[in-house]
Amino acid sequence: MDKHLITGGAPLEGDVRISGAKNSVLPILAGCLLTDESVVIKNVPHLNDVTTMMKLLGQMGANLTVSEGLTIEVEARGLNQPYAPYELVRTMRASILVLGPLVAKYGHATVSLPGGCAIGPRPVDFHVEGLRKMGAEITVEGGYIQAVAKNGLKGANINFDIVSVTGTENLMMAAVLAKGKTIIENAAREPEVQDLGNFLNMLGANIQGHGTSTIVIEGVKSLKGGTYTVLPDRVETGTYLVAAAMTGGRIVAKATRANILTSVLEKLEEAGAHIATGEDWVSLDMRGNRPKAVDIYTSPFPGFPTDMQAQFMALNTVAIGKGILTETVFENRFMHAHELRRMGANIQLNGNTAIIEGVPHLTAAPVMATDLRASASLVLAGLVAKGTTTVDRIYHIDRGYECIEEKLAQLGATIKRVAA
Ligand code: EPZ
Repeated sequence: MDKHLITGGAPLEGDVRISGAKNSVLPILAGCLLTDESVVIKNVPHLNDVTTMMKLLGQMGANLTVSEGLTIEVEARGLNQPYAPYELVRTMRASILVLGPLVAKYGHATVSLPGGCAIGPRPVDFHVEGLRKMGAEITVEGGYIQAVAKNGLKGANINFDIVSVTGTENLMMAAVLAKGKTIIENAAREPEVQDLGNFLNMLGANIQGHGTSTIVIEGVKSLKGGTYTVLPDRVETGTYLVAAAMTGGRIVAKATRANILTSVLEKLEEAGAHIATGEDWVSLDMRGNRPKAVDIYTSPFPGFPTDMQAQFMALNTVAIGKGILTETVFENRFMHAHELRRMGANIQLNGNTAIIEGVPHLTAAPVMATDLRASASLVLAGLVAKGTTTVDRIYHIDRGYECIEEKLAQLGATIKRVAA
């Protein structure tokens, strides 16, 4: 397994180009299953998860071509096998996003249950219950979801007990071709949900309210093709801004937007960062200062994103003062704390709360990545630790950060990838 070797000490300086959002391009690729026409998707990040989703669509019979740079063309017309095997689904939970489109378009689907992952059990009961309400007959056995809707799906009123991003996305996609109206209450409001709704409407769907907690979808007979540009990745943006804050640097994140990570920018300002924003860029300048500790309470959008919790834990380990992190979305999303402690961090864990006392500096150590955002926090810690940190199992990072070594090196970091 590949490792990262990171030698700390340099403040990050310069420009970094932000890639398209992983958590937007994955549902959008699944949404291509809803039409027989050709769809062109632009600003696609080169990530392992994107490759996995493309492999999954290809295995089902869809035709995909990657044209220059960051553009993919998808044509699902030839799809002949609405089946998502365990081998692929277990490597990427977001594969569950093909369930709604397949049942809506083809009337049946067999999709492996994703199973849990490092950060929690992550059930998909909301996805299944919602499709049942829309008339699908669903059995779950042998680790697979078998869904059938011989006469197609029908509109329904769906109310989520807990906000679910992919639950909202799956049912919004299923409702697009259902007969009649579907109303989704307590829907996820993440920018990626809004991006998916805009993409589907571009194909001819009739969706209102995406991006708010109530989404209304009027089913249509069929969708056409089109071209769509994926929104920037707010978590990648936040990760580089935190890296600059921790190293006392000054960077400009380009090809991104400030209004998709407002809560993160507010916390960075609280930590002492000077933030400026433009139409498609965000800059951060620490003026050489050490960050101040901040308290974080994760919650669904527009609250503070759980996907930025690990990065702020890393920031708090070297900040001035004490920071308290409360993780309310996932049950087990503090694995990075154990690894950061190995580098000298002072972290107390108590259930879903972490109390971090900032220390003057961390010390390099061999550490191991456990999940995507935890691994990012270990790379950030390596950027400030004295000595050379080895981060193992960085395949986790490759799932969600395009060219992270190149982008960090361009900002002045000393980082390299070694094949183990
Ligand atoms: C999406 O996961 C993101 N992934 C996650 O990003 C992100 O952390 C998460 O939303 C929360 O923002 C993608 O968009 C591909 P949820 P998702 O359904 O949809 C419970 C990353 O790092 N729940 O919003 O799987 C669930 O257990 C990844 O990029 C049920 O109980 O998350 C969790 O506690 C990690 N039953 C809570 O809801 C269900 O049927 C929120 O989960 C579905 C969810």
